[in-house]
Amino acid sequence: MLKSPPMNGHEIRERFLRYFEERGHKRVHSSPLLPANDPTLLFVNAGMNQFKDVFLGDDKREYTRAVSSQKCIRAGGKHNDLDEVGRTARHHTFFEMLGNFSFGDYFKEDAINYAWDFLTGKVEEGKLGLDPAYLWFTHFEGDDNVPADDEARDLWIKAGAKPERVLAFDAKDNFWQMGDTGPCGPCSEIHYYMGEDPDDPEKNRAEHVNAETGDDTIEIWNLVFMQFDKDADGKLTPLPAPSVDTGMGLERVAAVMQGKSTNYDSDLIRPIVDFVASLEN
Ligand code: SER
Repeated sequence: MLKSPPMNGHEIRERFLRYFEERGHKRVHSSPLLPANDPTLLFVNAGMNQFKDVFLGDDKREYTRAVSSQKCIRAGGKHNDLDEVGRTARHHTFFEMLGNFSFGDYFKEDAINYAWDFLTGKVEEGKLGLDPAYLWFTHFEGDDNVPADDEARDLWIKAGAKPERVLAFDAKDNFWQMGDTGPCGPCSEIHYYMGEDPDDPEKNRAEHVNAETGDDTIEIWNLVFMQFDKDADGKLTPLPAPSVDTGMGLERVAAVMQGKSTNYDSDLIRPIVDFVASLEN
């Protein structure tokens, strides 16, 4: 399955940060796990949390593009992975999220082109060198409040994706919001087929994206096209400027890049498990 040389977690993180830094993004440290000033959130659950007020137009930074590797906890609240831990090969209560952000700077087209280029571009050029035959792409199918994001579908195809590998899903999978209130918008995810043979028509297929067969084809990166502020009544107010918030699971990409079928066998977690297993009672 693995076409590129295995890459350790540190190198993947550094490649991601450098790729976006070279494209005008300010490298920002992970914030602490406890949100500084946000009563809607117990633990930081995404890279965008520390930029919430920037998206809302209530805070300004000296940069309009940022990149980070954010420590996250998803063990409660809206994004709660606790019940999945131990049942899947890809969920953790604590993980690192790689993200690039645009605050009213670039929008959908650049976000999609960057993602395509970083994932499928040449390893020698600082990218990941993944084979598009393993990748699936999703976009928002629309609902009563927000129209279908056909633009994202068209942009993936323009970037190089085969039309049959771009799929529409409803708000559960393709409309992202930080919590019950706050910045939100339609999103577009990239999923990876974890099997050996991309030509296997039984396994590498659309029905396995966002499906119960979860660990066979997994989400690796979510691009959120931030456009609204949601209030407690569910009303959506347009943000001052369309923005971008992306999140890529470092442990998942490490498993992909190392040809492992579970994050627990990646170099980011395996040594910890082995160490604990080696301890005597
Ligand atoms: N905020 C989005 C997520 O957590 C993208 O970073 O999936």
